[in-house]
Amino acid sequence: MRVLVVGGSGGIGAAFVELLCQRDDVSDILATFRLHEPTFFHSKVNWISLDPCSDSDVAKLCANAGQLDWVINAVGMLHSDSHGPEKTIKRFDADFMLQNMQANTVPTLLLAKYLDKNLKGVVNAKFATVSAKVGSITDNQLGGWVSYRASKAALNMALKTIAIEWRMRLPQVCVAALHPGTTDTALSKPFQANVPQGKLFTPAYSAHCMLQVLDTKTPEQSGRFWNWDGSELPW
Ligand SMILES: NC(=O)c1ccc[n+]([C@@H]2O[C@H](COP(=O)([O-])OP(=O)(O)OC[C@H]3O[C@@H](n4cnc5c(N)ncnc54)[C@H](OP(=O)(O)O)[C@@H]3O)[C@@H](O)[C@H]2O)c1
Repeated sequence: MRVLVVGGSGGIGAAFVELLCQRDDVSDILATFRLHEPTFFHSKVNWISLDPCSDSDVAKLCANAGQLDWVINAVGMLHSDSHGPEKTIKRFDADFMLQNMQANTVPTLLLAKYLDKNLKGVVNAKFATVSAKVGSITDNQLGGWVSYRASKAALNMALKTIAIEWRMRLPQVCVAALHPGTTDTALSKPFQANVPQGKLFTPAYSAHCMLQVLDTKTPEQSGRFWNWDGSELPW
């Protein structure tokens, strides 16, 4: 298989790249990075510098990527240098909200816009994005984190919409939203204090679980939201 990992130098993205390298059924990995340079190198991996929010960058990537069996997008943000996620609506900041929408929603839409040719004709192809359970509207019991939640809910809607459009055009592709579980990366670092013992996953474990989920999903199951353990999450 040929696999594209977008955000391949992030915490979870890098774990995807390393695990995919170990698989005999994977021959080539195209992995992208933006600010953080990759630290893992392997003969199967071709690293590409990319801004996943840039239309022209994504267009160029897809024009040169060739046929792809799996696409995994692991780009996302929860906090910036100046802003954390909002505990209350009183902390809402429009610029921070737009940054969340940009990082969490736009890359998947740009990839879907340009990837048709790369996925066409591939048997049992996968188009997956790492979303977050807090983006589930049904599951929202606690409130808070409104910019992150809303941007992941928008991402989920984007994935469902792409899946419906591709039912006719790319019926052999399984479009999937994935929840990794709380994972020990820079994104979750400031919020790990209250995570129950044993519930903070290593990036390798959560990436391993999500690859297992992708291995079992078929095009008939396209347009759904999967937890790291393979159970289905409500939109
Ligand atoms: N860690 C968790 O507990 C957890 C839980 C639920 C969901 N998730 C989701 O899992 C995904 C991966 O997160 P992670 O935990 O691996 O975090 P991470 O280590 O901080 O990685 C984030 C990735 O997103 C890229 N990125 C961040 N902001 C960006 C922007 N504005 N424009 C373009 N690229 C940007 C980063 O690239 P550069 O740094 O090079 O720019 C990096 O590749 C995210 O979608 C996150 O929402 C994580």
